[in-house]
Amino acid sequence: MQYRLATSVAAALGALLLGACSSNPEATSTTNNAAVPDYWPSIQSPIAKSDEVEKKVSEMLATMTVKQKVAQIVQPEIRDVTVEDMREYGFGSYLNGGGSFPNNNKHATPDEWIALAEAMYQASIDDSLDGSTIPTMWGTDAVHGHNNVIGATLFPHNIGLGAMRDPALIEKIATATAKEVRVTGIDWIFAPTVAAARDDRWGRTYESYSEDPEVVGAYARAIVTGLQGDISDGNIDDQHVVSTVKHFVGDGGTEHGDDQGNNIADEETLFRIHAQGYVEGLGAGSQSVMASFNSWHGEKLHGNKYLLTDVLKDKMGFDGFVVGDWNGHGQIEGCSNDNCPQALLAGLDVYMAPTPTWKPLFHNLVAQVESGEIPMSRLDDAVRRVLRVKVRVGLFDLPSPANRSLSGDKSIIGHPEHRAIAREAVRKSLVMLKNNDHLLPLEPNSKVLVAGDGAHNIGKQSGGWTITWQGTGNENSDFPGASSIYQGIRQAVSAAGGSAVLSVDGSYDEKPDVAIVVFGENPYAEGNGDIANVEYQRGEKSDLALLKKLKADGIPVVGVFITGRPLWVNPEINATDAFVVAWLPGSEGQGVADVLFTNENGEIAYPMQGKLSFTWPATPYQNPINRGDGKTPQFEYGYGLTYADNTNLPMLNETVEADSSEAADHVIFQQSVQPPWQLVARVNDETGTMNSSVLTVGDMAIRTADRHVQEDTLLMQFGETPATVAFFAPFPVDLLDFTTPNSALAFDVKLQSGTGIQAGIACGDNCAGMVQLGDFMVDSNEWQAVEIPTKCLIEAGANLKEVYASLQLSVKGQAQLSVSNLRLTQHGKPTTHCP
Ligand code: BGC
Ligand code: BGC
Repeated sequence: MQYRLATSVAAALGALLLGACSSNPEATSTTNNAAVPDYWPSIQSPIAKSDEVEKKVSEMLATMTVKQKVAQIVQPEIRDVTVEDMREYGFGSYLNGGGSFPNNNKHATPDEWIALAEAMYQASIDDSLDGSTIPTMWGTDAVHGHNNVIGATLFPHNIGLGAMRDPALIEKIATATAKEVRVTGIDWIFAPTVAAARDDRWGRTYESYSEDPEVVGAYARAIVTGLQGDISDGNIDDQHVVSTVKHFVGDGGTEHGDDQGNNIADEETLFRIHAQGYVEGLGAGSQSVMASFNSWHGEKLHGNKYLLTDVLKDKMGFDGFVVGDWNGHGQIEGCSNDNCPQALLAGLDVYMAPTPTWKPLFHNLVAQVESGEIPMSRLDDAVRRVLRVKVRVGLFDLPSPANRSLSGDKSIIGHPEHRAIAREAVRKSLVMLKNNDHLLPLEPNSKVLVAGDGAHNIGKQSGGWTITWQGTGNENSDFPGASSIYQGIRQAVSAAGGSAVLSVDGSYDEKPDVAIVVFGENPYAEGNGDIANVEYQRGEKSDLALLKKLKADGIPVVGVFITGRPLWVNPEINATDAFVVAWLPGSEGQGVADVLFTNENGEIAYPMQGKLSFTWPATPYQNPINRGDGKTPQFEYGYGLTYADNTNLPMLNETVEADSSEAADHVIFQQSVQPPWQLVARVNDETGTMNSSVLTVGDMAIRTADRHVQEDTLLMQFGETPATVAFFAPFPVDLLDFTTPNSALAFDVKLQSGTGIQAGIACGDNCAGMVQLGDFMVDSNEWQAVEIPTKCLIEAGANLKEVYASLQLSVKGQAQLSVSNLRLTQHGKPTTHCP
């Protein structure tokens, strides 16, 4: 399939080649930006600056107090701000984070969403305490549909949409998303993500449309247009929302694919690869940009004046506002969540301040403006930008959230027309990697066995950012109106006189004509999804066993792979006859069967047409791997078989040659517990698994805490009762890579109190290697790096071939310790003997 360069990308590149970029006369600042290279274009937003709007904003600004101004640039989160806080402070905006709902109720109804929007709005325009009547604005992460709301249409995640190469459909998806969001009284969304993910070990790869900036650019334009609607009259109407292009800039290009990591690209590469979504998204008029958590050459974007101000605002001419990411300002050197004038000075306009620290942050900012540390002109510019967008989105003219045109029309949430768009996207996003002997399409009047833990699991097929932040903990019943992949298959075959039997483990009474096995990654979000290499089910391979068993029984096997990124699945592909990548299709699982089966007359109703928008690796250790980098992939960028193709895929290489020079650490906990590990605690007979930021079992508690970045630390408090804490996997994990001489179990620890703590590895019933933690520490209650050589754990009885707990702690009585940066490494200190 041909991919057409969006005209505006072509124009921008053309201008670049001609050296024709001129500086933007509309630029808001007079800063001399001579130092910004000319390849950063000046962009004409379709919303031209209007004197009338500027006059209105100036009039408002002239009457505002410092406190009222600062309130416009501090954005708290609904779990940590009340309606009464809104009345008292009059915040310019607020958000709900992923998995955050009105009244903390996952099942909150649209009416409850509207009620909160209405109460917050009314409190914001109530001037009794803060003297301000400026309406507030609500921002939400509607990143694949209105994904925090029960019953909403869930579109495929961006990686699947990338495989469609269909900007027109993207625009329809965005239009539908805007409507569903408007029903709940919300006016602003934190999407699209326009990252070009270059290293698929990154946990946010699925939020990226493509590794290729052309696809990202064309889609950015389409989605911003769909979300904001026709803005040629200078206004976003009440059927549309304010969009956010995020995360500026370079989030998809960090070293090792680390979430919130460091991007070391040179500036031109930063522009050419990572900034095209901004060129196009701002060219389509996006009114906000979110600053990224990542660094560029070691400097956090939230504090990068050159990129935020000189490039984005002055050179590119962006006149909307820059919103921060989740306490991202607190990560700037010298800043904390509650104190960070640096971010505003660098060009951030709105602080995303989700924790209770919004309060000291607010008061510190007020004091810093009053002392002159923050010039009034910078504060005024930030507030002007916020107010300008509020005027453009009609906040001063529209009725209150409960009384807007779409509010409360519940029929729009999960509307059949929106579901039809999503289902079309599912069909177009499927990428077929293998179809030996034309097994697909299947005839619907067959006996089909549907196996695998993804077959009837809408949560799994929807991925992260689905009702909950991580997308975990959902049941099929949390998705009214949705269909699983199995339900789609059942419908297709039963309509044609066939039969579909669901059997997760693949067992059957009557031998089927064909088996469809739906399997793949479990949901994750952000850093939680970072992985050390791209081997699927390393050390486990239970899905491979299932595929092999069915094939050994002589049943033709179709693999349907649910995944947020290309993974090394050569053994799994070899164990199938046909292999289709479904990505993270979302709520309309039926779209899969639409393509896998012919219609009742044996005709192909929907073509198999998706093409990889990411390069597929040939080994687990090839990342980063991208089009044109000279590496030999398993499947090239753009690959994808159609039903017309006559290709039989030969057996693929299954041997894994670990690249020892690059032997990566096996991360167990870093900001989040990494799969397959789960944090489990046991006190007496009571056991609990950590799946939020707090775990309490008996008289012990673990909570997440912030050390360098948010949630990178586990604070453990033990009471009198002996307790065990383990990073546990439900199946044995092979960690034999970490038996080399310098291998160690390594972590940072701060032991505030407690003695006699044992640490080690557990390998099943009566199998463990435990040592005294104190023997590997210095006597101090400050943070320190601990390395326990695996050699010592093996001497103490650990079997690293079958590890069930990669770190187990046994605590006999009261203790308090913090742990972070937990991993197995081959690069520990040399050891001679064990204590
Ligand atoms: C994510 C953003 C998101 C924000 C609000 C952050 O952790 O990086 O993409 O918009 O949270 O939920
Ligand atoms: C929020 C997310 C956010 C994340 C960042 C979660 O608690 O719900 O929206 O992105 O924290 O750490």
